[in-house]
Amino acid sequence: MLKGKHIILGISGGIAAYKSVTLLRLLIKAGAEVQVVITPSGKEFITPVTLSALSGKPVISEFFTANTGEWHSHVDIGLWADAMVIAPATASSIAKMANGVADNMLITTYLSAKAPVFIAPAMDLDMMAHPSTKRNIELLKSYGNHIIEPAEGELASHLIGKGRMEEPEEIVKYLYRFFASQQALKGKNVLVTAGPTYEKIDPVRFIGNYSSGKMGYAIAEEAAHRGANVTIVSGPVSISTSTPNINIIKVESAREMYEQCVKIFPNCDYAIMCAAVADYAPAKYIDIKIKREKEDVPVIKLVKNPDIAAKLGAIKRPDQTLVGFALETNNEENNALEKLHRKNLDMIILNSLQDSGAGFGKDTNKITTYFSNGKKLEYSLKSKVEVAKDILDSIITK
Ligand code: CTP
Repeated sequence: MLKGKHIILGISGGIAAYKSVTLLRLLIKAGAEVQVVITPSGKEFITPVTLSALSGKPVISEFFTANTGEWHSHVDIGLWADAMVIAPATASSIAKMANGVADNMLITTYLSAKAPVFIAPAMDLDMMAHPSTKRNIELLKSYGNHIIEPAEGELASHLIGKGRMEEPEEIVKYLYRFFASQQALKGKNVLVTAGPTYEKIDPVRFIGNYSSGKMGYAIAEEAAHRGANVTIVSGPVSISTSTPNINIIKVESAREMYEQCVKIFPNCDYAIMCAAVADYAPAKYIDIKIKREKEDVPVIKLVKNPDIAAKLGAIKRPDQTLVGFALETNNEENNALEKLHRKNLDMIILNSLQDSGAGFGKDTNKITTYFSNGKKLEYSLKSKVEVAKDILDSIITK
């Protein structure tokens, strides 16, 4: 998986820099091409000579070589990379990356990198627990960076706690899993439904719901970043996306969404049903505005909308994967499992409105995934961008 991959190894100034040597060796052994970029204080902990000997490339630390004036282009290195790994990432480097303080080569390279970024923090437990570090790490996560959580254990200060940089072997495994997960969706056709549906009552009124479409669009973007060809069948939302490889088909009603999905699904490898589809629609559309002068309060008769997920579940082939959502207020697990079976889904993602931070319009979500084979995975509260990654990782492990 790592063979031939271009990896920037960013090293900042912490005791754990000694582990970067092992990390570098493991990456080279796995067949990766590694460019080391080290901060000025990183060089106090580990010498560039060791790193350049192991990587077979000059180590970059300064913006230019003093005696020749040769300029080191952080933009070129950033574009060259398939991944950037910053290990160890000190509290200071994390703060600079989170806030764009571009005062050394490692940070400028980070800001220019187009490739996925993996950050392995290493610091003392109190620094790790400080609100500013926590906030900065959250910011990095919200940019889509991967945080390789530090382990608990004895620290350089001899205190015991969270802050030990993850072991090099584990960092390599993390990268390996990442590239494997990227591979899994390459060239696959993915259908995502997103947003609410609007069921027209008259020319100015409709039945709808609060769905913003954010979760569906985040999943679509993540799938496209992983090389999938994505179609979003989207209800009315105020968001959009400029990510390449995403085709958006706009619909309004559940019936329109159903028709599009039934047409598209046979050519799909994965379908992820994120839309909050209205269960009912007015039986009759009144084509002029209903007026209030009338004596009686109007009664709107409703009819059932088609269940899109259940229909796709009924026509699904064994090579296709169908995923649904369950947004529940009570009896959550039972309701989710009942929907998983009734709709013949392969996986269902439960979010509970009882979890603060989850639900309509929010930028965060807390999910549990249930599989038709009985497997269950629980996740903590995360940004919808990160939840999208977890969902796709979860789906491909099915
Ligand atoms: N769904 C669908 N078409 C519908 C209703 C729901 O495709 N007409 C999909 C949703 O996109 C979601 C899953 O089915 O992936 C569960 O949706 P939910 O509204 O929770 O299920 P319902 O079957 O409508 O059950 P209820 O409203 O009674 O909870």
